[in-house]
Amino acid sequence: MRVLIIGCGYVGLPLGAELARRGHEVFGLRRSASALDELRAAGITPLAGDITQPGDFAWLPGNVDWVVNTVSSGKGGAAEYRAVYLEGTRHLIDWLAPQSLGKFIYTSSTSVYGQSDGSLVDESSATEPAGETSQVLVETERLLQGAARTRDFPAVILRVAGIYGPTRGHLFQQFLRGEARTAGDGSRLLNMIHLDDVVGSIIAALDHGRTGDVINVSDDEPVTQLEFFLWLSAKLGKPLPPSADEDAQRKRGLTNKRVSNARLKSAPGFTLKHPTFREGYTAEMSRLGLI
Ligand SMILES: NC(=O)c1ccc[n+]([C@@H]2O[C@H](COP(=O)([O-])OP(=O)(O)OC[C@H]3O[C@@H](n4cnc5c(N)ncnc54)[C@H](OP(=O)(O)O)[C@@H]3O)[C@@H](O)[C@H]2O)c1
Repeated sequence: MRVLIIGCGYVGLPLGAELARRGHEVFGLRRSASALDELRAAGITPLAGDITQPGDFAWLPGNVDWVVNTVSSGKGGAAEYRAVYLEGTRHLIDWLAPQSLGKFIYTSSTSVYGQSDGSLVDESSATEPAGETSQVLVETERLLQGAARTRDFPAVILRVAGIYGPTRGHLFQQFLRGEARTAGDGSRLLNMIHLDDVVGSIIAALDHGRTGDVINVSDDEPVTQLEFFLWLSAKLGKPLPPSADEDAQRKRGLTNKRVSNARLKSAPGFTLKHPTFREGYTAEMSRLGLI
């Protein structure tokens, strides 16, 4: 297959490498000419372009079979989210809908679930987040679902939990630096997924996904922040992080929910490599020589 990865970064690069290893022809788009050598070494043809600029589509390769949109606005605010996720996706649909595309995968986020009562959420749960940036992701999903319904656009939406793996995992990095803080009583739930399993879920969706599918990509064990820190402390022989003001955390409008991965686990062609953070972070600690 000819595959175009839009936003060939932390997730897109290892995804492209694996697809190239499987014999697919892979193109990887970024705005900058950064990581050219890294992309080429992974068997990916690097492309430069910006999906917020419709004019940039003129020189993208046509006749692609699969497109994966793993673009990220980084830490941008609502305006940046709107430009990159919503308008960027609109430009992609307009460009791709007239072509005979086989599959379009979009990596959304479990932040579309605004629930804050610790309840279990699955793909049929309400997506009414309080945060403006998460609302843009909900709008982007609706745009894709509309295109799937009315234009038979072959979109599959993956709602991805907090990604961790080499060099990533915000709380883990803070913990290692001695800067982590337990929010209040630490009862907020974290939903995580290892990079390897994000890549695996995208490949399974490319191979088997059906137009309009929505799938949560999260591991088997949502865990409270306190439990996570207790496990890290025991594993690394370091002290438990001190508590921080819970009100400050609450003001940030953080969600608190348990994300169901039942649909992911019954999806054809997919098995979790790291069923929980315990296996995933043990692998990461070994990689870093910490254990
Ligand atoms: N990280 C998480 O915990 C998490 C959780 C849930 C969902 N997700 C989703 O997972 C996906 C992958 O995230 P990631 O961590 O791999 O992101 P990343 O490392 O920041 O990679 C994103 C890539 O997109 C490129 N890019 C940014 N704006 C662009 C634009 N306008 N046009 C073309 N390329 C652009 C960036 O390269 P340049 O800067 O060179 O353009 C970068 O290579 C994203 O859709 C993200 O929203 C992530």
